[in-house]
Amino acid sequence: MDFTLKPLPYSKNALEPALGRETVTLHYEKHHAGYLHKLKKLLDDKPEASESLEWIICASDGPVFDNAAQVWNHDFYWRSMHPDGGGNPSGELASAVAEAFGGIDALRQAFLEAGEAHFGSGWLWLVSDRGHLGVTSTPDADLPLRYGGVALLAIDLWEHAYYLDYHNERRRYLETYLDRLANWEFASTNWSHAAMRPPIVRRCAER
Ligand code: FE2
Repeated sequence: MDFTLKPLPYSKNALEPALGRETVTLHYEKHHAGYLHKLKKLLDDKPEASESLEWIICASDGPVFDNAAQVWNHDFYWRSMHPDGGGNPSGELASAVAEAFGGIDALRQAFLEAGEAHFGSGWLWLVSDRGHLGVTSTPDADLPLRYGGVALLAIDLWEHAYYLDYHNERRRYLETYLDRLANWEFASTNWSHAAMRPPIVRRCAER
């Protein structure tokens, strides 16, 4: 895999005021980069280092899994947000939301309830599970890929993602994410690809 930190898809202050420059800078340059640095050290001189990040996630446990998954999760999280995000999904994804939840308001409630109920660190996901749209949370570094799910959107529930801007108010962070940051275009693209269930997703679930 390429051990270069992927660039952010926008400038570090582009998400203000929803997420401040200091939050994004620390999160990207310290936390995200830190996971990548640790993964590189763990895989130093190991044959797995030449495999893809997804392959490493599916084939590993313990610290290698934790750091590899966190690299993937953060890459995905940054792309799950957009400076002009928020609003509502459109097209086929909007139809899927209506079918699975009854509408965007119910999806929003499901997001907020799952995010608030999740104990401790982890991730909140909009996911396609074998073609079924759902909201789920995973602890620590865990991710839908391990269970055959295709991620559509991610929200980082670790306190480092929101504490500087929202302190302990996780619900306000979640509401702001949905109102101003959620990148529905990215989610729609992921939804259209999810129907094909990429081979790595199938293999990972069968492991
Ligand atoms: Fe994070």
